[in-house]
Amino acid sequence: MKVALITGGAGAVGSATARMLAHDGFSVVLADIDIERANAVCDEIRRSHDVDATAILTDLADIGSLRPLLDAIGKKFGRLDCLVNNAGKTGASRIGAVDVDEWNAVLTINLTAPMLLCQEAIPLLKASAGASIVNVASRVYLSGTGVGYTSSKSGLIGLTRTLAVQLGKDRIRVNAVAPSFLNSPFNKKNVERNSSLAESFKKITPLGRLGTPDDVAGAIAFLASDRASFITGDILHVCGGAQLAPSPD
Ligand SMILES: NC(=O)c1ccc[n+]([C@@H]2O[C@H](COP(=O)([O-])OP(=O)(O)OC[C@H]3O[C@@H](n4cnc5c(N)ncnc54)[C@H](O)[C@@H]3O)[C@@H](O)[C@H]2O)c1
Repeated sequence: MKVALITGGAGAVGSATARMLAHDGFSVVLADIDIERANAVCDEIRRSHDVDATAILTDLADIGSLRPLLDAIGKKFGRLDCLVNNAGKTGASRIGAVDVDEWNAVLTINLTAPMLLCQEAIPLLKASAGASIVNVASRVYLSGTGVGYTSSKSGLIGLTRTLAVQLGKDRIRVNAVAPSFLNSPFNKKNVERNSSLAESFKKITPLGRLGTPDDVAGAIAFLASDRASFITGDILHVCGGAQLAPSPD
């Protein structure tokens, strides 16, 4: 049975992805700092799907914990077929408010930890017949929103393209999804700052609605599947067309 590791697996996109991959027959490992919620998602998945679902307490800011995470997966399952680098962190919006500690914290969660997880996962992924990495970036790499956040997600796109080139010979596909604004706890602070933000995003979206965690999970599950077996180095925009428009303030 294929195995997928999903960081931030307790969150909106992460839990939707875990459910969808479980539906597609993957056993799932949810690595999250919120172990209570991760365990609850795993309980629910085990009840509704005939797969294994395991929650592992992980703080991506603690980069020393990443190798033990992959070791634990190797020990329990002996394989890894898909790595979904999904956990993310926002930071200050404007350049004048950027604090270097916060900048480093955002870059660590959104870029350094995904890079290290890719590095640590290579030996297990190499042994899989249909291995892939899916990085959860953001539409902001096109439009710019939040200095550290946008820089980190742009870096994640660069990482995706670079690893697609380097790991192709090992038959490991590397892709990214770039969602637009979703109604999730992730945007709580932004919505508190600007209560019409969701409405503004709806207006710039040609398909006329906001995206859902399931929309993003569907794109991730596709990229992780054999249906995408000749797709690597790509960025799948899950934006209802909003990738074609400038951002609202
Ligand atoms: N929500 C949006 O509008 C939106 C838009 C574009 C991209 N994204 C990206 O989608 C991804 C998922 O976002 P979401 O909306 O599901 O957010 P969410 O807040 O619902 O979930 C994020 C999850 O990551 C976990 N997490 C946070 N810090 C962690 C850490 N240090 N170590 C381990 N786990 C940690 C949280 O506990 C949570 O379960 C993020 O990378 C985000 O940047 C979100």
